[in-house]
Amino acid sequence: MRPLPIADGIDWVGTLDPQLRRFDVIMQAEHGTTYNSYLVQGSEKTALIDANKAIFADTFLDTLGSFIDPAKIDYIVLNHLEPDHSGALAQLLEVAPNAVVYATKPGLNFAGNIVNREFPCVAVKDGDLLDLGDKKLRFIIAPYVHWPDTMMTYEESQGILFSCDFLGAHYCDDRMFNDLVENYEYSFHYYFQVIMRPFKEHVRYALDQIEGLDLNMVCPSHGPMLRSNVQSYLDRYRKWSVKPAPREKKKLLVFYASSYGNTEKMATEIAEGARDAGADVAVFDLVGVELHLIPDEVENAEGIAVGTCTINGDALEHTWELLASMATISIKKKVGAAFGSYGWSGEGPKMLTERMKGLKLRVPLDPLRIKLVPTDEDLAACREYGKALAAEL
Ligand code: FEO
Repeated sequence: MRPLPIADGIDWVGTLDPQLRRFDVIMQAEHGTTYNSYLVQGSEKTALIDANKAIFADTFLDTLGSFIDPAKIDYIVLNHLEPDHSGALAQLLEVAPNAVVYATKPGLNFAGNIVNREFPCVAVKDGDLLDLGDKKLRFIIAPYVHWPDTMMTYEESQGILFSCDFLGAHYCDDRMFNDLVENYEYSFHYYFQVIMRPFKEHVRYALDQIEGLDLNMVCPSHGPMLRSNVQSYLDRYRKWSVKPAPREKKKLLVFYASSYGNTEKMATEIAEGARDAGADVAVFDLVGVELHLIPDEVENAEGIAVGTCTINGDALEHTWELLASMATISIKKKVGAAFGSYGWSGEGPKMLTERMKGLKLRVPLDPLRIKLVPTDEDLAACREYGKALAAEL
């Protein structure tokens, strides 16, 4: 794609990756993604903001080179050094030998380990200003959104914030502006859930850092640039990162994956027993649950019970995926429990119990296992199990 003018003297010079379907192994990217870089040409100096992914280095440098002789770039500003924004840095430095790299101190450490050679650089501090003449770039340090190196860069003369991953989305549409692309709300929220949600406290700090700025446009490093209803995107981040309010009742989440309805019956009775004992309980059938929405639920609960039947000596894949999705949440000391109906050997609930212990959940009760169809006595035992769980929350 050709460079795209976005404001006076400021151009998008990134790359599109419409074929991508999985980002960083962990994220779905059903609409592909973009790796956005921006060229800011002031009356005196020129800065390039953010580099690109290694596999797109040639495309990136072709796009850039079609617009400006890279040797004329005075500064390379790196808001964040994860390899999707820095993999092309070594090649960039080859064609931009006069450029000085600006990044946070942790960012420069990462950069050194990425290019494995010396390069001219400046470690920036919060509020530092880079003077390009008629344009000025102000650095806003915002660590842990989502790496320790992260910062944002604000172009003061036109009110443009280069926010890197913050407020981004994996969404590729060559129209590139939020008021031109199709509705990408799902991708915007999903990106927050996977990338930013584990760092809510830091998201709040970053939002505070940019509060009150005159924001005509927000230009993230992935997905559409925001030039319409900018505040509404900030508001959504504020809402999604809010601290949970204190609750009166302890909360138990009961998840299950059930082949023939027997484990489901157990889940229902366990939930009933926990409710009788005063807990607030929510039950989730893992078939059809959107796992990226689960971390918020788990974060706000005191305990989780996971039910699985056993197939081929293993717990069902849905339950493993559920537990894997909790890797980014602080679940230490929450209560965990496993249960399930089985026909032959019934290893599933025992396996989940061990995994929960590995995740540092507190597992006070042995797994509850019932052979095939629960009897009335079995269902009563499930209710007692739910009561006992509620007492541990
Ligand atoms: Fe887009 Fe944290 O990298």
